[in-house]
Amino acid sequence: MTLSIPHGGTLVNQIQLDYNNSDIYSEIEIDATALSDLELIANGAYSPLKGFLGKEDYESVLKNMRLANGLVWSIPITLPIKEKTAEKLKLGEKVSLKYGNEIYGVLELQDMYAPNKMEEAKKVYQTKDQNHPGVKKLLERPNIYAAGPIIMTKVPPKNPEFSLYYKTPQETRNAFEHNHWETIVGFQTRNPVHRAHEYIQKTALELVDGLFLNPLVGETKADDIPANIRMNSYEVLLKHYYPKERVFLAVFPAAMRYAGPKEAIFHALVRKNYGCTHFIVGRDHAGVGDYYGTYDAQKIFDQFTPEEIGITILPFEHSFYCTKCENMASSKSCPHSKKDHLHLSGTKVREMLKKGITPPSQFTRREVAEILIKGLKTPEK
Ligand code: ADX
Repeated sequence: MTLSIPHGGTLVNQIQLDYNNSDIYSEIEIDATALSDLELIANGAYSPLKGFLGKEDYESVLKNMRLANGLVWSIPITLPIKEKTAEKLKLGEKVSLKYGNEIYGVLELQDMYAPNKMEEAKKVYQTKDQNHPGVKKLLERPNIYAAGPIIMTKVPPKNPEFSLYYKTPQETRNAFEHNHWETIVGFQTRNPVHRAHEYIQKTALELVDGLFLNPLVGETKADDIPANIRMNSYEVLLKHYYPKERVFLAVFPAAMRYAGPKEAIFHALVRKNYGCTHFIVGRDHAGVGDYYGTYDAQKIFDQFTPEEIGITILPFEHSFYCTKCENMASSKSCPHSKKDHLHLSGTKVREMLKKGITPPSQFTRREVAEILIKGLKTPEK
């Protein structure tokens, strides 16, 4: 078997559900993003990270897109805490990580530092514009970063509407092996799978053994389509249009950062940890608005050697339906002009769906549109 080697060499496992925390007296309240990061560090999705980044790693990630030990890492995974909380903590002590009324983990507090958030915004998001959803969130979160290795002592709640689709990287690796897949392409999405997505996935599927459809279901911005509606749309699409034995659907419970190119690297490394050998990066991957160039998220990989990334990137051109070709295509395969191409913006499609209007079947499969219209219908007042 040739499943990809986890980033850094070994799949991290920091889960200890029988951990005895009776002698820990300090506590940090964490937000939903930190809770999802805790889970993804602990289950190995963020290998080689074993905890939240200390100052040295943090600065190295911002400056060089590498951890202090040289391994490629592009998004700082940090644990923001309030100044008041920080004042009460002592370096070296163990601290419970609490979300709501429950404790989900323990942090061995090795470092605390005040980040320069504007610098972080510029480096990670390439903008200081507070209208950027990633920058907005960065500034809203507390101002001190607590750091050190973690242990997850309780599994965070799963969304009951799609609880079957939560899998750890060890579980996805086992499933890929069980299916005898040697090459697996990972697909990140925060949207329903429209025809362009389907086209690039299936083009990739012509080359590899399996497709790992791995929608992000952590926090997204308010106007993205909610995860429960999307999950229904993926199920119906797979049922009608994909070969069952060649697709594996599981959720990626991380928060969306909207960091474009830097998030593309992060997304690729994480999918390597889930066992993928290939990863799709299409147009404006993890982008928002006009902050990034259409292919910046592909070009950024040129800064590293293929060995350093350790997962093969499959770059795709902007795809569309061409009325002359009567097919899905991209500028690489279609000779016709823009006026022959069907273009609908995400915002336009969401407006249509909310009004109960079915987008053309060349844009979205009818079965998918039906689910989305039903899910997005605003209740009568
Ligand atoms: S993302 O924020 O998760 O990247 P989205 O769900 O829209 O957003 O995209 C999922 C993947 O499909 C990304 O790799 C993106 O670049 C790619 N993609 C989306 N739409 C197109 C398209 N029309 N043509 C080519 N690639 C696309």
